[in-house]
Amino acid sequence: MTSLELMTEEIQVWIGELEVSDSRYAELSRALSAEEHRRADDMAALPARRFIVARGILRNLLSGFTGVPANKLKFEYGTKGKPSLLDHDISCNVSHSADLGLFAFATDRAVGVDLENERPVRRLLDVAQRFLSDEELHALAATPPAERDASFLRSWVVKEARLKAEGKGIWSVSRNGPSTQNLTHKLFSPRPGYIAAVAAADSDWRLFTCAVKH
Ligand SMILES: CC(C)(COP(=O)(O)OP(=O)(O)OC[C@H]1O[C@@H](n2cnc3c(N)ncnc32)[C@H](O)[C@@H]1OP(=O)(O)O)[C@@H](O)C(=O)NCCC(=O)NCCS
Repeated sequence: MTSLELMTEEIQVWIGELEVSDSRYAELSRALSAEEHRRADDMAALPARRFIVARGILRNLLSGFTGVPANKLKFEYGTKGKPSLLDHDISCNVSHSADLGLFAFATDRAVGVDLENERPVRRLLDVAQRFLSDEELHALAATPPAERDASFLRSWVVKEARLKAEGKGIWSVSRNGPSTQNLTHKLFSPRPGYIAAVAAADSDWRLFTCAVKH
């Protein structure tokens, strides 16, 4: 991996395909720890392959930032499962949806990212009532029906990205509960048919998007 640079007040989000050739898969797979391979062993075939590819890409990018070989990097996990890199001042967060992965990095603040492929949302109203605030629900109700799925997914990725920046789980959050006030977020479409949000503390950061080359 060539060396990569990450400046302060910068959030880089790398966009990577999770469908890769078998040779690339084998290469990425070699970057994972034994524990990560055991985790993949407990998954069905497609999620396992995507997890291995995503974790391999994450490790390779972190290797580019730190200069440490990808397979030597170590993660620790927050109480709700957020992985973070040990021994280096780089925050990272990952999201995957269908065959696309997003990999977010910052040096000076925690970061959260969420990605969804645009699709009809099953039981949209049930999900919305469970997770959206009253204000968001009103906005959704005022949206023309044909645009509701896309509107809901925009609210959803913002909510998840903010929770992920804080390392919280989606199930631990009440609809109208307090959120950390100083988080800001940006919405973007990493590829046609996908919507994403990235969130981090304060507003003095800029978003850069980059493509993972396989
Ligand atoms: C992680 C979570 C916030 C988002 O999941 P999602 O939208 O289904 O999936 P995404 O692809 O966007 O994100 C998954 C990635 O986020 C990271 N992640 C996992 N837990 C995280 C957390 N609490 N905060 C931030 N990031 C997290 C991981 O890198 C994971 O990828 P990996 O499985 O390849 O390691 C959601 O699954 C969740 O709420 N988990 C917590 C469950 C919980 O509260 N458990 C407590 C006991 S009940």
